[in-house]
Amino acid sequence: MDIKDVFSHNKQWIASKLQADNQYFKKLAQGQSPGMLYIGCSDSRVSAQELLGLRQGEVFVHRNIANMVPGTDLNVMSVITYAVRHLKVSHVVVCGHYLCGGVKAAMMQQDLGTLNHWLRNIRDVYRTHQQELDAITDEHQKYNRLVELNVQEQCINVIKTAVVQKAITEQNLSVHGWVFDIRTGLLKDLNIDFEAILKQIMKIYKVV
Ligand code: CO
Repeated sequence: MDIKDVFSHNKQWIASKLQADNQYFKKLAQGQSPGMLYIGCSDSRVSAQELLGLRQGEVFVHRNIANMVPGTDLNVMSVITYAVRHLKVSHVVVCGHYLCGGVKAAMMQQDLGTLNHWLRNIRDVYRTHQQELDAITDEHQKYNRLVELNVQEQCINVIKTAVVQKAITEQNLSVHGWVFDIRTGLLKDLNIDFEAILKQIMKIYKVV
């Protein structure tokens, strides 16, 4: 990769945008009102807007290793608060992906320094669902399933926040768990039964 190419590509991109709509950047500068917050993995193969088929201004994006939502992470908590309370998005999506290196690393016995702390959250997901995961003998299937269960648990982490609990009742906010399949390009809705989960967990996590 020649880093200088970025600037010539940028100029080409500006030209193509203006050719399609000569007011394109003027409109962008007027402000944003995205309908969705997308929380995804930093993986370079999983670019939010492109895989969702959305344009600039339509999705508020947060990405980190393995699309995590730890309650102690000021970064993701600030993003959720801003998107829900101020941008008033209607949907919060946690999108994982198969072949996630972060999830794979959490399944292995290795010391990754600072990353240990981050990946421990995925190990906790494994422990929460250990019975189901240990019963899967095929390692690849187990890996896929942990990717899905991690998305589910991160969605639950989203629901644990006061700002989201308030918005679910007052703004009709909904939370979704999706997985992107790098091998086919397909986006899969995990169809997580949030109503059932909410009922089950709210006894413990209800804060508003
Ligand atoms: Co990943």
